[in-house]
Amino acid sequence: MKAQLVTLVVACLFGTVLSDGSTLAWCYHLPSCNYTTWPTKIPHHCSGARQSPVNIVTADVQADPSLTTFSFTGFNDSSALLNIKNADGKSVMVSLDDSKMSVSGGGLSGLYKSKQFHLHWGNGSSSAGSEHTVNGKRYPMELHIVHMKSTHPSMTVALDDPTGLAVLGFFIEATNDSSTPEMWKNLTSFLLKISRKGDVVDIKNQITMDGLLKGVNRTRYYRYLGSLTTPSCDEAVVWTVFKDPIKVSQDLINLFSTSVYINTTAQPLITNNFRGVQALKGRVIKSQPSSATTPYEALSLTAALLYYLL
Ligand SMILES: *[C@@H]1O[C@H](CO)[C@@H](O)[C@H](O)[C@H]1NC(C)=O
Ligand SMILES: *[C@@H]1O[C@H](CO)[C@@H](O)[C@H](O)[C@H]1NC(C)=O
Ligand SMILES: *[C@@H]1O[C@H](CO)[C@@H](O)[C@H](O)[C@H]1NC(C)=O
Ligand SMILES: *[C@@H]1O[C@H](CO)[C@@H](O)[C@H](O)[C@H]1NC(C)=O
Ligand SMILES: *[C@@H]1O[C@H](CO)[C@@H](O)[C@H](O)[C@H]1NC(C)=O
Ligand SMILES: *[C@@H]1O[C@H](CO)[C@@H](O)[C@H](O)[C@H]1NC(C)=O
Ligand SMILES: *[C@@H]1O[C@H](CO)[C@@H](O)[C@H](O)[C@H]1NC(C)=O
Ligand SMILES: [Zn+2]
Repeated sequence: MKAQLVTLVVACLFGTVLSDGSTLAWCYHLPSCNYTTWPTKIPHHCSGARQSPVNIVTADVQADPSLTTFSFTGFNDSSALLNIKNADGKSVMVSLDDSKMSVSGGGLSGLYKSKQFHLHWGNGSSSAGSEHTVNGKRYPMELHIVHMKSTHPSMTVALDDPTGLAVLGFFIEATNDSSTPEMWKNLTSFLLKISRKGDVVDIKNQITMDGLLKGVNRTRYYRYLGSLTTPSCDEAVVWTVFKDPIKVSQDLINLFSTSVYINTTAQPLITNNFRGVQALKGRVIKSQPSSATTPYEALSLTAALLYYLL
């Protein structure tokens, strides 16, 4: 029974279907089932010791020279993004072709295949909805690309491995550069077609992952060990959170909290679909050594020196 539960859970990280056909009762929008209730209602694993998301305190981040550059495969391939779906009224998810998309390097132990990406958001311009925060700052949205270690035969096996999954997290920041970037315009154009729980539409040959991640320097990231951020919060994730946000126009960000619904009926909208930050419990967040001073920092340093000299 547990195996079946896990298989179904992971077939869609947002639809936690039990073997008797009922659904595991968790939600984002009601006091009776929101994330503050998960540790008591779903203690295995939501009350664990390496939960996600977390607040990243940059002053406490430790340098780790093993955090090398990633190698991305298929991120430029528009046939690797298969379909977009209203995932159980909890998120918007794009299924990925894992025979075409994968990552390695980046301090990971081997090859991880891309399974899907999905998004977390708040409520338009009025409230931010990223899961991770940086020095307490919450970004408007966060994108998660979920990968599974290629040597695992199934998600069930991967979830029992402390490093079975690799999730790449990208913050999304709002710009007022209307309707950009182009790829986000293309992606969000599908939202009205998946307004009801369970709706799915084909998006093949239209969008690339590289196009969606435009502007992010993928050599700069945070790393820590954590969990799924949805029940049952399995502690199987090597987290990578990139420092640079993707800059998306406010207009397009607002479409997420105004287009997709929790139910098959047209109410309520999916809003604030993020879990609050969890205690680090002794974990240390790592990043690349900062010895390689960025041009911006070098410039600031020069400016500071000039200031003191003058
Ligand atoms: C979650 O529910 C609790 C009560 O169980 C409530 O106090 C809290 O404000 C709710 N939080 C969110 C983010 O909805
Ligand atoms: C993607 O990039 C790889 C490596 O640079 C290249 O060989 C391949 O042709 C590209 N694929 C597409 C669809 O552009
Ligand atoms: C989201 O924002 C809209 C308009 O700003 C507001 O009417 C609505 O009540 C908000 N929803 C939630 C769940 O906070
Ligand atoms: C954003 O809008 C403000 C006010 O309309 C404008 O001054 C500013 O230049 C805009 N910024 C960008 C990055 O477009
Ligand atoms: C994005 O959408 C526009 C308008 O529908 C279309 O012309 C363009 O080809 C699309 N771009 C890609 C890369 O699919
Ligand atoms: C990305 O960041 C690295 C490290 O800070 C830097 O060396 C590199 O030049 C940057 N790449 C781009 C395209 O800005
Ligand atoms: C919508 O879904 C929520 C959560 O599943 C449920 O509590 C509510 O009764 C549903 N509302 C309608 C009108 O179906
Ligand atoms: Zn997520």
